[in-house]
Amino acid sequence: SKITVSLIKADVGGLPGHVTVADEHIEKAQENLSIAKDSGLIIDFRVFRAGDDLELVMTHKKGVDSEEIHKLAWDTFEKATEIAKELKLYGAGQDLLSDAFSGNVRGMGPGVAEMEFTERGAEPVIAFMMDKTEPGAFNLPIFRMFADPFNTAGLVIDPNLHNGFVFEIWDIYEHKRVLMNSPEEMYDILALIGAKSRFVIKRVFPKEGGKLPADEPVAVISTEKLYQIAGEYVGKDDPVALVRAQSGLPAVGEVLEPFAFPHLVSGWMRGSHNGPLMPVPFHYSKCTRFDGPPRVIAAGFQLANGRLVGPVDLFDDPAYDYTRQKAVEIAEYMRRHGPFEPHRLPMEDMEYTTLPKVMDRLKDRFESIE
Ligand code: 13P
Ligand code: 13P
Ligand code: MG
Ligand code: MG
Ligand code: MG
Ligand code: MG
Repeated sequence: SKITVSLIKADVGGLPGHVTVADEHIEKAQENLSIAKDSGLIIDFRVFRAGDDLELVMTHKKGVDSEEIHKLAWDTFEKATEIAKELKLYGAGQDLLSDAFSGNVRGMGPGVAEMEFTERGAEPVIAFMMDKTEPGAFNLPIFRMFADPFNTAGLVIDPNLHNGFVFEIWDIYEHKRVLMNSPEEMYDILALIGAKSRFVIKRVFPKEGGKLPADEPVAVISTEKLYQIAGEYVGKDDPVALVRAQSGLPAVGEVLEPFAFPHLVSGWMRGSHNGPLMPVPFHYSKCTRFDGPPRVIAAGFQLANGRLVGPVDLFDDPAYDYTRQKAVEIAEYMRRHGPFEPHRLPMEDMEYTTLPKVMDRLKDRFESIE
């Protein structure tokens, strides 16, 4: 029978500002999910903090978009919000955009990455959790894992990967999706996903006729776009992803390898700046310099009939020290630009800030140039 892994997250209040999640939130989430585990609703769970985002990893047999599972997450975030209000944490309930739960957390503020699949004889799963950036930050690493032979040796030397993968890409402005084949359509895929604030990889599937069922995803990314849902800026939609590995899929080390390059992502201070994505161990999952730089943690598990064996803190390794050092250099370089692009985001991405108001105020003072 199939197992579902659900990773649901929300910012329900930061300590201090947008830096990290309070211990009180972690404890409350653990308490609430323990009750759900004892009742049999979920098989297992783990709670994480990614910067100021509270992250719930849950396994169960209810499938994706389950009302019961989403309600459990929503109730957990509401309970944590009560604590946030009590402790006057910053932005209490920031991502809970609706007062009442109505069946599904999609479009209500929390971010969701979940997939249902047949658990293999050995099932490695990696949960990636980012803070101070947007879903498109996953485009480059996910592409490299499943499509770039210079990243993933298995695409060249493992017959089970040699046929490539199918990418489900969403246009988050038009609310449309397209399925594209790699490597056949690689250049077209890149044409889309290089525009990472608009086109985001939502899922990756194996191809027909391979070792794994073609209708069961092997990777999934949260694509909630907070400022569009909320209609005004309430924080960037710091994304999460789940990736399965090995035996017909990229090896764990191939899944991690793209993060050795601290690529530029949008987010950082006030959700309005480009900066490097820094892979960090759990204990550095707090955003400090200029509310960043943007960072990512990775929790590695083996599944055992839905039981979560782990986590292993995968970026807690000197092998990523060089990347972190590079990220710090890039952060320093970008910061020196102050309010100038391309550190600050372009006008189109600043609609929810004061910039339109500045333009509005000045519009009568603009005169034509002969
Ligand atoms: P081991 O020999 O350590 O099991 O590693 C096998 C492998 O394929 C590593 O990528
Ligand atoms: P978060 O999206 O992580 O809440 O950060 C918002 C922000 O404005 C940081 O400067
Ligand atoms: Mg916040
Ligand atoms: Mg955040
Ligand atoms: Mg955010
Ligand atoms: Mg081995």
